[in-house]
Amino acid sequence: MCGIVGIIGKQPVAPLLVDALKRLEYRGYDSAGIATLDAGLIKRRRAEGKLINLENLLGNDPLSGNTGIGHTRWATHGVPNETNAHPHQTEKLAIVHNGIIENFRELRDELIADGYNFVTETDTEAVAHLITRSMDNGLDPRSAVSQNLERLEGAFAIGILFKGEENLIIAARRGAPLAIGYGEGEMYLGSDAIALSPFTNVLSYLEDGDWAAITSGGVEIHDVSGGRVQREKQVTVASSVMVDKGNYRHFMLKEIYEQPEVISHTLSHYLDFATSSTRFPKELPFDFANLDRIAISACGTAYLAGLVSKYWFERYARVPVDIDIASEFRYREMPLAKGGLSLFISQSGETADTLAALRYCRAQGQHIGSVVNVRESTMARESDAIFQTLAGPEIGVASTKALTCQLSVLASMAVAVGRAKGVLSGQQEEKLVHNLSEAPKFANQALKLEQEIQKIAGDLAKVKHVLYLGRDTNYPLALEGALKLKELSYIHAEGYAAGELKHGPIALIDEDMPVIVIAPHDKIFDKTVSNMQEVAARGGRIILITDRTGAAKASMDTEHTLIMPDMPDILTPLIYSIPAQLLAYHTAVFMGTDVDQPRNLAKSVTVE
Ligand code: AGP
Repeated sequence: MCGIVGIIGKQPVAPLLVDALKRLEYRGYDSAGIATLDAGLIKRRRAEGKLINLENLLGNDPLSGNTGIGHTRWATHGVPNETNAHPHQTEKLAIVHNGIIENFRELRDELIADGYNFVTETDTEAVAHLITRSMDNGLDPRSAVSQNLERLEGAFAIGILFKGEENLIIAARRGAPLAIGYGEGEMYLGSDAIALSPFTNVLSYLEDGDWAAITSGGVEIHDVSGGRVQREKQVTVASSVMVDKGNYRHFMLKEIYEQPEVISHTLSHYLDFATSSTRFPKELPFDFANLDRIAISACGTAYLAGLVSKYWFERYARVPVDIDIASEFRYREMPLAKGGLSLFISQSGETADTLAALRYCRAQGQHIGSVVNVRESTMARESDAIFQTLAGPEIGVASTKALTCQLSVLASMAVAVGRAKGVLSGQQEEKLVHNLSEAPKFANQALKLEQEIQKIAGDLAKVKHVLYLGRDTNYPLALEGALKLKELSYIHAEGYAAGELKHGPIALIDEDMPVIVIAPHDKIFDKTVSNMQEVAARGGRIILITDRTGAAKASMDTEHTLIMPDMPDILTPLIYSIPAQLLAYHTAVFMGTDVDQPRNLAKSVTVE
């Protein structure tokens, strides 16, 4: 998942390209580069690592030219170094690419046999030479691009500059997002609306198979059949305000602390606190009352939000849920009833695996609902119903406020479906909505435990392995706690259903591996106590996250016991996420890792 941008401007574009790339860094930050046309010649600057390195390079060795393209990279093919950084260049063109060309080796061998010399390990370079070869054979840029797109297998969003063509950028997309921006005598290309927001809020989104010739006067779009098409011009709401960290050391900590507010915003969108009832749009393309099964698919933390919601839909609405991670879901060929509901959960709305699963379900005749944070994302645009999380831009790569807002939407939806199907009485709905309305209060109380959590993190930072245990709706939370810890601190961590401990993982228990047990005092707490006793009996180290009653009932010695406020069961996955987030955050800070941009990761995984 990379970020690409292009500008045909009326002023030097290098600083504008860098500004746009800053907004795309969430897509990857292994390397960055720009290329401009200066007196018809292609000039390029690239740098390994974060965007600041490219900025420093341009400060010492600036680029002029009013037409240019830029790229920030998350490496898929080839190590993240300057050589493999985009834009890639030949005698005739420069190209930036987001996606994966799956048949690049075949193309590379063919082009090498034709005498083309490769200098990088990237799949993108094969596209550069493929189009160059057609131009060497006399084709003009438009024909050279359009005639070669069908040779490419896989996903791509590309922007291309051509030597001597100051007033032309050609773009194409298949399976990766690409937007065209309209300015006053200027035109733009970008991976998303946020990248282009400093320049324009009038965009068109290319569709799969489209290619476009962009000039200062406008854009000429062709669809996969080659015919001219118009893509709707939309006014976006993407804010050009660069989100900043405020007084926080990291975006992640800021976003953890934003949770009471954004949970409240999100809940108040779907719940009427005055009447303690749910309020979902009436004009949905499907009727909650007629839902008899839901398929859910997502990736990473978003998947874990879905896993929690499986318990909720089945408990409060008696609707069975089929759920799977998107990369498995789309190849399972799950039998799906026509007219059923498939729900996709995604912060970015651009995750390739989740999008592919969505398109599979669309092809099966499913109604498509998406729980997304980015209103103008590809996933939102391809859904019949959008249930937006109002988390605001989430910059930290680790998902925090997006998760608790996803849980807020899903809990509200489960109650709404339960009420619509008559499984919940008006009184039960009222009670559950009241419970949910208290989430911001309990979130604030959980944040007050940060200092105590910091102490626990100090111990975690010394170990190599950690096991998280949970039951029921806190089992997905054990998985999430482990995901947070490993992606932020690089410490190996696993989440397990507490009841599974005795079926294998208990062999791991020793004094070197802390066991973090997420267990509010609920109806199955005593079962978890037995699991903790199994751990204690083998000299294991227990870190218990529970409430006052749970702490009193946990008879064994624990290394730490974090006491959370008493709260209704429906809130525990939402609120117990916060100590899990803070634990991972502070452990990462102790470890000195890059909390907001951990190694090898990116905020939005737009490749499969
Ligand atoms: C979460 O902390 C991870 N960074 C990652 O698992 C993320 O949740 C996953 O890639 C899905 O992203 P999405 O919500 O944008 O689809």
